[in-house]
Amino acid sequence: MNIYDVIHRRRDVRAEFTGAPIPGDALDRVLAAAHAAPSVGLSQPWDFVLVNDPAVRGAFHAHVQTERATFAATLEGDAAARFAGIKVEGILESSLSIVVTYDPERGGPAVLGRHAIADTGLYSVCLAIQNLWLAATAERLGVGWVSFYREPFLRRLLGIPETIRPVAWLCVGPVARHHDTPDLERHGWRRRRPLTEALHHDHW
Ligand SMILES: Cc1cc2nc3c(=O)[nH]c(=O)nc-3n(C[C@H](O)[C@H](O)[C@H](O)COP(=O)(O)O)c2cc1C
Repeated sequence: MNIYDVIHRRRDVRAEFTGAPIPGDALDRVLAAAHAAPSVGLSQPWDFVLVNDPAVRGAFHAHVQTERATFAATLEGDAAARFAGIKVEGILESSLSIVVTYDPERGGPAVLGRHAIADTGLYSVCLAIQNLWLAATAERLGVGWVSFYREPFLRRLLGIPETIRPVAWLCVGPVARHHDTPDLERHGWRRRRPLTEALHHDHW
């Protein structure tokens, strides 16, 4: 697959995990790709917690169910009915979970390029996640980003220090397939907007 094939093949995966083990060398390549991301001031402010423990994954899954219910309670009518049919995670079915964190103190106190825009640290972590996601796709693995959680809960569950921010819980593993269309579009939740609507010339 060339880079464009990988970019367009990438999907957020929830229902298609097979649970088969991830070949160790593929996981190494995926993590190395994540770690090769650009970062503000070369701060590399990410860490990766590899979660295999079924008890930990089970506890997180239960928490995600309560957060799903919290969100569902904000919906009415058609939206509530549509959301009821949408799977938002594959925590128990996937082969591995990877929690990606952000350390705002890494490379500090003078992080080159971050003095005016504090969020650049967080942007850097998201670039590592995108590298991981694309590399996994090139390895024909699926990735699903789960954000139905409260940060203090996840911090406590994994013993993450107070100063460090969990940014993503990623479900990772072999999949039966990558769909051509995002799940949310297939379920009629939302459609992708065309590039032409996102393009501006000279002014907003
Ligand atoms: C920051 C972020 C958080 C997300 N959180 C969730 C989530 O909690 N559950 C879920 O099912 N998908 C989640 N997604 C996946 C998006 O729904 C998905 O990327 C989007 O619908 C487009 O589909 P695609 O990734 O297959 O192209 C998240 C994606 C991002 C970037």
